[in-house]
Amino acid sequence: MSVRSTPALGSAEVADRVGALLGQMSVAEKAGQLTQYFYFNLPPAQDNGATPQHEFQDQPAIVEAALAKGEVGSLLFVTDPAEVNRLQRLAVAGNRHGIPALFGFDVIHGLRTILPVPIAMAASWDPDSIEQAQAVAAREARAVGIGWTFAPMVDIARDPRWGRIIEGAGEDPYLAAAVAVAQVRGFQGDGLGSADRIIAGPKHFAGYGAALGGRDYDEVNLSDSELWNVYLPPFKAAVEAGAGNIMTAYMDLNGIPATGNDWLLTEVLRGAWGFGGFVVSDAQAVHNLRTHGFAADLTDAGGRALNAGVDMEMAVGDPSYAHLPEAVEAGQVDMRVLDAAVRRILTAKARLGLLDQPYVDEERAREVLADPAHRAVARVAAQRSAVLLRNEGGLLPLASPGSIAVIGPLADSRRDTLGPWSFDFDLDETVSVLDGIRNRAGAGTEVGYAPGIRPAYRTFPSMFDMFANNTPVDPAGFDDEAELARAVSLAGAADVALVVLGEWQNMIGEAASRSSLEFPGRQLELLQAVVATGTPVVLLIMNGRPLDLRWVAENVPAILDIWYPGTQGGAAVADVIFGDVAPGGKLPFSWPRSVGQVPIIYSHTVSHGPDDQGRRYWDEASTPLFPFGYGLSYSRFDYSDLTLDRGQIGSGQTVTVSVTVTNAGERAADEVAQLYIHQRHGSASRPARELKGFRRVSLAAGESRTLRFPLGPGELRYWNAAARDWVIDATTIDVFAGGDSTAELTTSFTIGARFAPGAGQGSRT
Ligand code: NOJ
Repeated sequence: MSVRSTPALGSAEVADRVGALLGQMSVAEKAGQLTQYFYFNLPPAQDNGATPQHEFQDQPAIVEAALAKGEVGSLLFVTDPAEVNRLQRLAVAGNRHGIPALFGFDVIHGLRTILPVPIAMAASWDPDSIEQAQAVAAREARAVGIGWTFAPMVDIARDPRWGRIIEGAGEDPYLAAAVAVAQVRGFQGDGLGSADRIIAGPKHFAGYGAALGGRDYDEVNLSDSELWNVYLPPFKAAVEAGAGNIMTAYMDLNGIPATGNDWLLTEVLRGAWGFGGFVVSDAQAVHNLRTHGFAADLTDAGGRALNAGVDMEMAVGDPSYAHLPEAVEAGQVDMRVLDAAVRRILTAKARLGLLDQPYVDEERAREVLADPAHRAVARVAAQRSAVLLRNEGGLLPLASPGSIAVIGPLADSRRDTLGPWSFDFDLDETVSVLDGIRNRAGAGTEVGYAPGIRPAYRTFPSMFDMFANNTPVDPAGFDDEAELARAVSLAGAADVALVVLGEWQNMIGEAASRSSLEFPGRQLELLQAVVATGTPVVLLIMNGRPLDLRWVAENVPAILDIWYPGTQGGAAVADVIFGDVAPGGKLPFSWPRSVGQVPIIYSHTVSHGPDDQGRRYWDEASTPLFPFGYGLSYSRFDYSDLTLDRGQIGSGQTVTVSVTVTNAGERAADEVAQLYIHQRHGSASRPARELKGFRRVSLAAGESRTLRFPLGPGELRYWNAAARDWVIDATTIDVFAGGDSTAELTTSFTIGARFAPGAGQGSRT
């Protein structure tokens, strides 16, 4: 068995310390360091239909027994600092070497201060505000004793039936890579050990977003070209940004379980990319190697996962890695492989400072969680995420209406405003859309509210239902027809109706795939009844995936996508609606007309009958309803002077593109300038367009700014499936600049000599 070398692990001092500990550890203790346990202290199982509660009921006893033996590397799902300290004392006392546990958690979009959901932050196209937001999340997490987050999710998602599209940055590898880097920097700061920061764990390596039929956890079959050109680049960018951890994926990738995939985890991640951090499995994914029909039993599963490159197992119940001593004994696992994994875990603990200070200051934790500066960051992040999809007649921003009818159950739901993957929120401080509108509307504006309909429900429950507040509550004594009539009459009598529709937060996220993109329940009926009153309607969409807006886009004058905007969501939405800030977000995915179109992407290749690209179906246009990169503003932007610093480059050289953006409207606003390329010919078919640069700029009315974008080997090379290598073709490249992926302003340049492999401009990965 070959043992691959590990890239540099940190300073010599850390290495010495880790080496000394390792030298004293038994095989069982080593296996323990590689084991991460869920620790839930759930109330006794309720009969609420949530699936695996029973799996977690015995966890406290199992974990505390393992802590007493010194055989726990990490715990997840503990967020109370007093509980962190209690368990940490057990870990330190139980371990002969005093090695503390590393606490990890899904700090996906905030801990106490809930930020907009990740797809929303991606829609800001603003790496700076994303970095600041995740720095707040890191600060709160670190303060309570969490040293590691299972984030960012950097999976490309092109099928919105897949619920986890909400956790990523959408369909495009370039945008997703930029967002991944911003998040890794936000979580980690200058590196592991930075004050107030935590380890970032980009996930799920790799290809998880391409689940067959959009069905969560189902198999993924990706072509070589898609894998290298689309699905892997955000991971590579996150690794280059210094991410300290990577999480594996649940599913089979091209027939091999990702969690037992030596090629993926060792050849690509460690070998080609030089990843020096540690790899964790997704929850129960090592166990699942048996479910996949890959491993024979738990010992085999543990041995094969470790050998493939999984350093730590995330486990519920009986961990496979507790059987590693048997796998060593049987010769399935080489001690050097085991030691290399343990070294990576201990190194992370050492670099975080845990070996010296394993406990947290509970008093300080309270102060940090209460820091008002965190709420201010969340509010800005939410403002910047909003995407204006339609605004006929300049209905928005609202011009001091005498009365506003706020309609729809989601408008008044603080829990749903936060979105999924939030657990430690404070509902008292959460601002719903209704709260935000009420707070912001002046004394001269009357704000009325009617839900109109009751919430909608999932047909099948989710495992997340075991958490408090996860499922909508059916209002007692709700008279459906009377409530609908009340909402319609309130809207009919108002100057403007703000209708909030979308998906309840438990309908999106993990284990939340859908076969339709329609508004659940009677929401469309409610909207249609409100529109029929003749009162101007603004639709606010609370969502993490595109929904079917075919009727809406023709009948509702203003549509604002507010996503799940977080703790300060309602305040931020009010800021946008009343024009205190102008919306500047852009779509991170192509918005399909209907579910039958998915997957639909802007970066498709060009094939037979290109003039009929929009008529591939006989029953409906095959173009998206809104293109990738789309979003309106309260102002208007012109693009001009698209120029290049040279018309021809040699392979491996860089051309600089310049374009001038002018705010041609009457008010200050933000625009996301986008740069796309298309390769006219070469040794493979290339996409109709590919994003290769973007910048969010704030411009005063009338202000112009010239932006420069480099196009060099990083942007021009691509993975060629026939050559099985990276290539830069001798070709002509068309360049497009504008405010979305249909930008028309264009120029072109040529690339002279063919790229010679091994000439230094590229590498195999
Ligand atoms: C399973 C999910 O797939 C993963 O993203 C998450 O981090 C773990 N559960 C832990 O909650």
